[in-house]
Amino acid sequence: MAILVSKNIFLLNTLKSSYALGIDENGLLRHLYWGDKIDQIENFELERIHNRSGFHSAADMTMEECSSFGMMRYKETSMKVKFFDGTQDFRYDVKGYVIEGNLLTITLEDIYYPFQVKLFYQVFEEENMINRWREAINLGSEPIVIERFYSAEYGIKGKDFEITNYNGTWCGEFQLHSDNITSGKKVFESLRGLTSHVVNPVFMVHNGAKEDYGNVYYSVLEYSGNFKIVAEATPYDYVNLLIGISDTDFSLVLKPKETFLSPAAYAGYSNGGFGDMSRTLHHFCIAKLMPKATSNQVLKVLYNSWEATQFNVSYKAQMLLAEKAGELGAELFVVDDGWFGKRNNDLSSLGDWQVDLIKFPDGLEPLISHVKQVGMDFGIWIEPEMVNEDSDLFRNHPDWVYRYLNREILTGRNQYMLDLTKEEVVQYIFEAIDKLLVTYSISYIKWDMNRSVGETSNTLMKEGSSVWVAHTRNFYRIIDKLREKHPAVEFEACASGGGRVDYGTMRYFDQYWTSDNTDALDRLEIQRGYSFIYPAKYMRAWVTDSPNWINERSIPVTFRLHCAMAGSLGIGSNLNHMTEEEQAIIREHIELYKRIREIIQFGQLYRLKYYKEDDFHAIQYVKDNKSIVFVYLVQGYFGKDKYFLKLKGLELHQTYLINNDGVTYEKTGAYLMHHGLVLNLKGDYDSKIVQVEEK
Ligand code: GLA
Repeated sequence: MAILVSKNIFLLNTLKSSYALGIDENGLLRHLYWGDKIDQIENFELERIHNRSGFHSAADMTMEECSSFGMMRYKETSMKVKFFDGTQDFRYDVKGYVIEGNLLTITLEDIYYPFQVKLFYQVFEEENMINRWREAINLGSEPIVIERFYSAEYGIKGKDFEITNYNGTWCGEFQLHSDNITSGKKVFESLRGLTSHVVNPVFMVHNGAKEDYGNVYYSVLEYSGNFKIVAEATPYDYVNLLIGISDTDFSLVLKPKETFLSPAAYAGYSNGGFGDMSRTLHHFCIAKLMPKATSNQVLKVLYNSWEATQFNVSYKAQMLLAEKAGELGAELFVVDDGWFGKRNNDLSSLGDWQVDLIKFPDGLEPLISHVKQVGMDFGIWIEPEMVNEDSDLFRNHPDWVYRYLNREILTGRNQYMLDLTKEEVVQYIFEAIDKLLVTYSISYIKWDMNRSVGETSNTLMKEGSSVWVAHTRNFYRIIDKLREKHPAVEFEACASGGGRVDYGTMRYFDQYWTSDNTDALDRLEIQRGYSFIYPAKYMRAWVTDSPNWINERSIPVTFRLHCAMAGSLGIGSNLNHMTEEEQAIIREHIELYKRIREIIQFGQLYRLKYYKEDDFHAIQYVKDNKSIVFVYLVQGYFGKDKYFLKLKGLELHQTYLINNDGVTYEKTGAYLMHHGLVLNLKGDYDSKIVQVEEK
């Protein structure tokens, strides 16, 4: 049974973990346990907690499931509410609970004010995850101000934990970073209106866990707007953990009879280190989060012309590129920025989603037909939430952007942000994209967002400050409506690279643009960090030209290919400048990729070696007794040319056929996992793909 109840205690069980909570004699909904599986609910107790002194209240000392500001709590609480008469605390009774299948709902109701909070716990037993979210309900006739409303609160007994998140930047996303939580608070927050390149709505809390060992407590928020994660070392021998919408610049007026739903936070526990955590999350994404229409299909090999042409797109040049991309074996041809309005640089035309008739005199149709003739689907780039000052849209609707009346409008990449809280703006964006999809045979849309949010507006601020929640939810609404009307179209989430990689976008998009940085060495690091939380299938990775534009680094084409093939392969090179020899190598690898991509996109990932800690870098994907191993030697040492690599995830007694350097031989799973593969690697930027298959 996934949910057990005994007396005042609830026990939530997945196959591998347990989570317990209970109502104590102070009436608090207390967090009791999170960790390895304990089947017997009878073991759990609610030991008494007394005020320790005038300075340490019982409420502050208790690990709670829904602590609220007030009642002499001084830790960061999971909610903060103000009633119409200024009372600033939520004192509740547990009104009741309901269990429907694997869903537990507990209702807390204020002892005086007409206000309820429902806490939801959905147990994904097989997937080893628990989904948490909350709802605030105003039952009365006066408005209630909600100043903080996280999705979930967790506690972990003990101290000396570390919290891991990212410490990234544009072109350097997913740089893993850990800090101790031994005193005070550690906060990870985005106020950029989107997830950002810097941090991610996730926490991994552990005690020095590594790839294959250690306990990891983790949670991921299904949200793409401003978020906050707080890990607080309390003076009471527990760490309090909060995850949800950021309370900075947030206050929501809940009108009479209104409700507010928090986004979902998925929680998992692993006693097998980060590797087990990642495999659990990847499986969960495919099984429960990704859009159903594409979650079971492999992604196509795409060609994107951005790095080749930038804004300089034209019918003729794109036709040529399409022919070459088709010959190489690409299956999807994407025209990036520059096809609309008068977009010759990033100063103009965002918002004017009509084809530039100077660049495409007969519209997009002739190019699309040609792309199809050479065997590919057609895709296009847009950035719907933005507008340039130099655009017809802004000239006609200067009031459609976020702006303060007595201030200059803030820009980022020379663009303003459309006010998505306005229904007419939502309608305009939907209609503009819908028109493109109705007019043209478009199979894929790359949806970009190239700046952080700035100001809101005077009118919006007078009503309270939950603008970025409304913005985020209307962004979801638009794409949801588009997907409903055009179910066959694939969407890619991009925000100058990986600024919008989160489980919120995963619900609506089929893939992410991982980073604008396509340098293969930097990518090894970015892709490794990404893989802790996000699945390979969603990780678009392109082979581009060398030297790379971002850092002038030159890397051989095979290494670049092997790096990009570890995700969903794309080509972004300028095919007009490519030698015959390079084209042949790319063609051959695309062919190989098509044969093995199912293992990569749906397989279980094992991070075997990390080039910053080991002699070389290696990752392995395993699916149905087939395995693909990517090996990268960044720098050769002292003429060393033999390396050993122990594989993982195979059957001990199974005999496997190994294809290594074009030579095929047999070994058992036991040999491959205990003795290891012998790899010939030499020099700088050597790399290979080893194929392993059940005999
Ligand atoms: C962003 C994206 C790039 C490209 C450009 C186009 O930077 O991340 O991939 O689409 O915009 O302007």
